[in-house]
Parts: sequence; structure tokens; C-alpha cells
Amino acid sequence: MNICVIGTGYVGLVTGSVFADLGNEVICVDKNEAKVAMLRRGEMPIYEPGLEEMVARNVADNRLCFTSDTEEAVERSEVVFICVGTPPKENGDPDMTYVEEAAISIARALNRYKVVVNKSTVPVGTGNMVRELIEVNRRRNVDFDVVSNPEFLREGSAINDTLYPDRIVIGAPNHTVAMKILELYAPLERPMLITDVASAEMIKYASNAFLATKISFINAIANICEAAGADVVQVMKGMGYDHRIGAAFLQAGLGYGGSCFPKDSMALIQTAEKFGYDFHLLKSVVQVNREQVMRFMDRMERVMQGFQGKRIAVLGLAFKPNTDDLREAKSVEVIARLLSSGATVRAYDPIAMEKTREIFPNIHYAENAYDAAEGADGLVVVTEWNEFRFLNMDRLKSAMRGATIFDGRNIYDPLRMRRMGFDYHCIGRPTGRNRSE
Ligand SMILES: NC(=O)c1ccc[n+]([C@@H]2O[C@H](COP(=O)([O-])OP(=O)(O)OC[C@H]3O[C@@H](n4cnc5c(N)ncnc54)[C@H](O)[C@@H]3O)[C@@H](O)[C@H]2O)c1
Repeated sequence: MNICVIGTGYVGLVTGSVFADLGNEVICVDKNEAKVAMLRRGEMPIYEPGLEEMVARNVADNRLCFTSDTEEAVERSEVVFICVGTPPKENGDPDMTYVEEAAISIARALNRYKVVVNKSTVPVGTGNMVRELIEVNRRRNVDFDVVSNPEFLREGSAINDTLYPDRIVIGAPNHTVAMKILELYAPLERPMLITDVASAEMIKYASNAFLATKISFINAIANICEAAGADVVQVMKGMGYDHRIGAAFLQAGLGYGGSCFPKDSMALIQTAEKFGYDFHLLKSVVQVNREQVMRFMDRMERVMQGFQGKRIAVLGLAFKPNTDDLREAKSVEVIARLLSSGATVRAYDPIAMEKTREIFPNIHYAENAYDAAEGADGLVVVTEWNEFRFLNMDRLKSAMRGATIFDGRNIYDPLRMRRMGFDYHCIGRPTGRNRSE
């Protein structure tokens, strides 16, 4: 099938590459010409394991190409995927400008029947909005259909998630269109749900809001555990064995970040409001998430007796492991507060340092975790990269000036850390220290 993918970010680039790998002819479009130039040179604008090889393979086989000419790409395709960003506006609504622009470009290039598939995360009703925009702006009276096919991939495992999704949701206005998109996904042999457009749009937000709820829930439980002397890791295990609950997204920590959960929760609250429903449950989820990192920083500041003049090592900058994405990353909040309180920061992340440099040009970027720890009074783990789990703690300790570790992701064993002589602080687990700290 001839496919056009508008937007070559995490979703568009991965979707386009996987469809090409399945034997389709794919043109990926981005209005960012620098990005297109990079991709044409074989350089990836984002870090995603396995992506570079997949792109190279399909470019070499002439199944995948890149352009910034949307109209030409749309003209040549029978299915057009919209994968542009929907970033949050100040009030929490998603900014729909990019989706609108994409719809207008599609309208102008409409030369024969096409299926327009929206993969961006958009509020319920967007399918109708895209349909109307195309109707009003098309130059020829050519027919088309609009489908919602929300994306559930996770950064860091995006290719695997696209090849082996738990489910594929196709929200279509009629059976014939649904079958066309189903045919595209058929080689994956994964469960598919065919539904109406509005329900498909809602499934995406409801899923993300539910996962965010699990995270805030376990963080709230962790905060109670901390005061009560219980261990949230044990509590989580005990809950997770219950198949009705499941252990996924029940790790206590600094809260959720990234380009999806924070913005999608806010967007759903706004949507609910527009339909006259006060979604106070989800508002609390957002509130717990906002407070979580502040609570931890307050504790750090108390333990360190203020940050003024202290040198703090920050391990992990990306919003989660295996990505370079810094959108709504907890590291940004942590570093901003450390700097504004007079600390100096030595940071290390395996992948995300270049992007962090754009936000904090004046902190020290270390070669590795040990280099970050050099002369540090305290060290904070912000992102649970696997390599941080296997550090040589003796080496880390001798690099530091102090011995205080704040584990914002509960990756170390409190008992072992204490035995090694660290002043160890984590989330929702007893550390054998006076609980009033
Ligand atoms: N990143 C994720 O993990 C993820 C997962 C599921 C769903 N989503 C959703 O998918 C959508 C895309 O997310 P992303 O992370 O890939 O975004 P992104 O910001 O990484 O990429 C979006 C790309 O679209 C391009 N673009 C914007 N307007 C354009 C236009 N009119 N024509 C051509 N290109 C245009 C931008 O230049 C950018 O390269 C969002 O709605 C997001 O919520 C993201």
C-alpha cells in the first residue's frame, strides 16, 4: 500500500518505518526541514533502540523516503497518517494547530479517494473536526474518510511496541474503511478492536489517564508507608500478584513525566469539563503527581541542611530510561530547584545530555556516573537507567565527598546501602533511620 505519514517524531518515524518494513511504500513528511535533511543523511533526530537500522534497511530497499513537501506525499498515497504533535497549551487543552495544518495540507492535495488516519492523541470530536476542515479546504470534490487509530507505543521500546502491540484500535465511520486499515495491520497478527471514531479517541485518553492513576495511587500509598514504617515495594508486590490489579505502573518514585501522561491527563480533565463533568478523580491524580517530586526535594533539602554551596550529582535526565526525551522530565524540576537554592550540579545521563544542555547550559555534564559523583555532597537518582542499578558502590562512595544518596526510583536495596555506609533515602521504604527526618 502507498502510505504517507505526516510528522516524523517518535510516533510518525516509528510508524512509517514499521509499515515500510511490512512491505508498504512509505513517504514520511515533516515540516521541519532540518529533520528531513538529517533523516535523508541517515541520521536519527531521536534516540530509539533499533530505529536507525530499520530506517536504513527500508531506505536502501526504496520502501521509505523523507520529504517536507506534504502535498506531493499526500497525492501519491492512498492512506495518510497524521502523527503530528498535540502539545499542551497553558490551560491544559492540547494545541491542535499542527493537526489542523496537516488536515488543510491533506485537503489541498486530495486528488483521489483517501483514508485519513489520525494517530496523534486528540480529544474526542477531532475526527469530525478533521473531516470538516478537509471538506472546506479541498480543491476537488473527491471523497475521503477519517479514521482514528490511536497510538500506544512507549518511547524506548517503540519499535517492539509497534510490532507487538497489546491491541490495535481502529475507530472508523464504516466497515469498509475499517477493513482497509485492518488489512494494513493484519501481518502483525495482534488483537484488533474496531469501533466508532469517538470511542477510539476516548480509549487513548482513558488508557493514559488510568495508567497515570496507578502511578499516583502507588505514590500516595508510598507516602503513607513512609510514615507508617511499611515498605511500598512489598505492598506493590502483594498488590501486583492480584491479576485484577497487575504490577505494571505500580512502582513508587518521583511520579510520571514525559510527553504523554501529563498532557493527556490535563486534556481529559479539560474535555470532561467541556461536557459538564468535573473529573475530580483525575484532578487528584495530577495533584499527587505534582507534589511527589516537591516532597522528595523538601526531604533532600532537610537532610542536606540546605542546598546552598552543596555539590549534587544527578543521575538520569531523560523522563524515563531508554529515551532521550526530556519533555516533563523530573530531572528538569530537580535541577532547577537545586540551582535556584544555590547548589552546583554534576549531571549524567547515557543518552539525554545533549538535549539537557539546551535547558541547562551551565551545569557540569559528566562522563559517567562516577565522574558525576566526584566531590559530591549528595547524589540523586532521577531516572532508573539499568546501568545505575549495577554501579560499583565502593567506587561511587570514594568519588563522593559526602555519602548521602537520594534514590528517587527505589533502585537500590536500603539494607545493603546502609551496610556500605551510605546515608540512603528512598521512597516509601524503611531505611532503618529515625522516621521523623
Ligand atoms: N511520544 C510518544 O511516546 C507517544 C505515544 C503515543 C502517542 N503519542 C502522540 O502522538 C503524537 C505525536 O507525538 P510525538 O511524540 O511523535 O511528537 P513529536 O513532537 O516527536 O513529533 C511531531 C512531529 O510532527 C512534525 N509536524 C508538526 N506539524 C506538522 C505538519 N503540519 N506537517 C508536517 N510535520 C509536522 C513536527 O515537526 C515533529 O517532527 C502526539 O499527539 C502524542 O501525544 C506520542
